[in-house]
Amino acid sequence: MTSALPPIAETSAQAVMDLERDYLLQTYARYPLALSRGKGCYLYDLEGRRYLDFLSGIGVNALGHAHPRILKVVREQAGLLMHCSNLYYHEYQGPLAKRLVDMGGLDRVFFANTGAEAIEGALKMIHSHGRAIHPEKYQIVSLDNSFHGRTLGALSITGQAKYRADFEPLIPGVKFVPPNDIPALEAAVNEQTAGIVMELIQGEGGINPLTPQYVAKARELADRFDALLVADETQRSVTRSRESIVQRRTRFAVGIDAADRDRR
Ligand SMILES: Cc1ncc(COP(=O)(O)O)c(C=O)c1O
Repeated sequence: MTSALPPIAETSAQAVMDLERDYLLQTYARYPLALSRGKGCYLYDLEGRRYLDFLSGIGVNALGHAHPRILKVVREQAGLLMHCSNLYYHEYQGPLAKRLVDMGGLDRVFFANTGAEAIEGALKMIHSHGRAIHPEKYQIVSLDNSFHGRTLGALSITGQAKYRADFEPLIPGVKFVPPNDIPALEAAVNEQTAGIVMELIQGEGGINPLTPQYVAKARELADRFDALLVADETQRSVTRSRESIVQRRTRFAVGIDAADRDRR
């Protein structure tokens, strides 16, 4: 058997970087560090040097690396069934959805692979909600300095021009307003608004929390103008909006609105 690639353990960091540079689309500027494994809160590079992981995969590896219980479950499941499409039922989807609903005070869950995909789902829900009321009701209000992902829809509502510039025109009818500016929000939301999207604490834009008064005003305006209020919790962590946004019967997140429409 012949192989063009040396075994991983013998690969130098420089070789890893060279290979990526030659064969990967160069969409990210990376730090010159090639990581090989992690344990708990530590990461190790190819030469075995240890690093304290302050970044945790941009907030993704909250449970640390190689946690024994996670490893056990992943190993067991890999030996049973790696993937089945959503054409079929799977015994774990229902229990996980119920757990998230119980924790978050929401009605239903939509599973997605990435934050951007979750936002795409929310955008589709906003548009279909608006269209069901009036064909001109498709405007979305989003916040300056926000980040919602790198797909075209998510970029359209990302309030940082540097990310959008190369890909315009994006989806129409998006208005950006400064966070925590209640008069600006009141001026932006009207009968044509189908949705308001916000991170309750902006992540990528800096650690910028929204005030409770501002979020309450967004809730009130969304209710008054029959718009959906979407909290993007990709970075902040799922279900933490319960106290701040989900009041009364709300049209708030992807699942709730679907249930809402079913009832109409
Ligand atoms: C608030 C927010 N929304 C959406 C995304 C996109 O998530 P993903 O990279 O999983 O597509 C991010 C990513 O950092 C994010 O911080």
